[in-house]
Amino acid sequence: MDNGARIFVAGHKGLVGSAIVRELRARGFTNLILRTRNEVDLTDRTAVNRFFVNEQPEYVFLAAAKVGGILANNKHPVEFLRDNLYIELNVMDAAWKHRVKKLVFLGSSCIYPKFSPQPIKEEHLLTGELEPTNQWYAIAKIAGIKLAQAYRKQHGFKAISLMPTNLYGPGDNFDLQSSHVLPALIRKFHEAKTNGARQVTVWGSGQPRREFLHVDDLADAALYLMETYDDGEIVNVGLGDDVSIAELASKIAAVVGYEGEIVYDASKPDGTPRKLMDVSRLTGLGWVAKVTLDEGLRSTYRWYLENYAETGLRASAPARRS
Ligand SMILES: NC(=O)c1ccc[n+]([C@@H]2O[C@H](COP(=O)([O-])OP(=O)(O)OC[C@H]3O[C@@H](n4cnc5c(N)ncnc54)[C@H](OP(=O)(O)O)[C@@H]3O)[C@@H](O)[C@H]2O)c1
Repeated sequence: MDNGARIFVAGHKGLVGSAIVRELRARGFTNLILRTRNEVDLTDRTAVNRFFVNEQPEYVFLAAAKVGGILANNKHPVEFLRDNLYIELNVMDAAWKHRVKKLVFLGSSCIYPKFSPQPIKEEHLLTGELEPTNQWYAIAKIAGIKLAQAYRKQHGFKAISLMPTNLYGPGDNFDLQSSHVLPALIRKFHEAKTNGARQVTVWGSGQPRREFLHVDDLADAALYLMETYDDGEIVNVGLGDDVSIAELASKIAAVVGYEGEIVYDASKPDGTPRKLMDVSRLTGLGWVAKVTLDEGLRSTYRWYLENYAETGLRASAPARRS
């Protein structure tokens, strides 16, 4: 990609999309094509085609999706399946029709079977039952992978599919009703410290193990693979290391400076016992993560204090100073 290339980042206001925009700008890419949902609703086929006709992007990062936690998936299975299928179909079909040179599709580790061997290899895809609570979203992502592979097989379209592990960082969702575990714990411990609460309750037993990748690392990997990888096989993107929820809670309490008690509410669901990605394919392609969990937690808490703690409103992360 030359620095003047016309690059469409779908979902540029989101956690992943905003990180990819920061990374592209930091590397001197000047011709970014960015549209909010109000400007181009990606579930609207006509609007998407019109956009591609008018803007003729050369490269696409498909970081737009209907994303949410277990509660939201349970309540809105139709939207999680239908809207994500529409977004993938409309964007990939238009990208192929309008001769986009390359497209990066972002899936998620939830595509893999609930009881997949650990660490999870790419070839474990479709070898067992999915986690029922987010199966709608997972099926849509698996369909997206197959769609990308089908366009490549039939038309030689250069689509690649990345499967990131759990992501976190600036621009994350800290709303306790819909956020993932890491941002929820940052908010809970911060508010407990601010209010002088004697204890913080963490959902579940604290035993499940999870992997967390800083979103700036994901953006770095997405650009690296856009430039260097050209194959239909999916690629896991992760840190290659995991922690228990209890270890994560202790790390976040230390970063926030909370000295009260941490208690575990085992009546709440634990989800899958472990979810660690095998990243040997990505390492073999010459990429490894750079942000350790400890560094990432410190910088994310700093961002939370500067951008969220006062207002309680979701803020997009500021442009990175190049
Ligand atoms: N977060 C994670 O831990 C994680 C882990 C693995 C993979 N991923 C993948 O990364 C991708 C992005 O996730 P994220 O965490 O960045 O989600 P996010 O923060 O919710 O961002 C999604 C973006 O997509 C936009 N969008 C949704 N529906 C749209 C529509 N119909 N038309 C136009 N724009 C639309 C949203 O716009 P609004 O701002 O208007 O809502 C939002 O800006 C997803 O494919 C997800 O599977 C995320």
